[in-house]
Amino acid sequence: RLVLVLNGPNLGRLGSREPDVYGAQTFEDLAALCRETGRELGLSVEVRQTDDEAEMVSWIHEAADSRTPVVLNPAAFTHYSYALRDAIAQRTAPLVEVHISNPNAREEFRHTSVVAAVATGTIAGFGMRSYELALRAIADTEE
Ligand code: DQA
Repeated sequence: RLVLVLNGPNLGRLGSREPDVYGAQTFEDLAALCRETGRELGLSVEVRQTDDEAEMVSWIHEAADSRTPVVLNPAAFTHYSYALRDAIAQRTAPLVEVHISNPNAREEFRHTSVVAAVATGTIAGFGMRSYELALRAIADTEE
């Protein structure tokens, strides 16, 4: 079964981006971890990243049309994108919101997620393991 792991703006820069917050591992390391976890769980995992809101919305539409489960790190879109929220509201399979950091322990503007209410659930604060936990949740979920 296919699972899409979708990543929003600035996550392609993991490894060099604020390593004190996001760690030293690169985006490629993250993609490899997701694919490896998928292999273990019997899921075929496709990892993508975009800085473009329109492209992210189109990927959420693609997932809705094909009933594909999604692990989504919306990055900064989390905090303000009603377009992304409205796209996720059309989902036809589980969608797990993930964050590497714990946004609730950070600046005030990160305490609001406009997508959380339309996600199946949220996993945040476990570093790159947040993705692994989300893939396990999808493997265990019948919806
Ligand atoms: C993030 C948290 C967001 O607040 C931030 O804008 C990101 C990354 C995380 O994974 O911790 O880009 O989604």
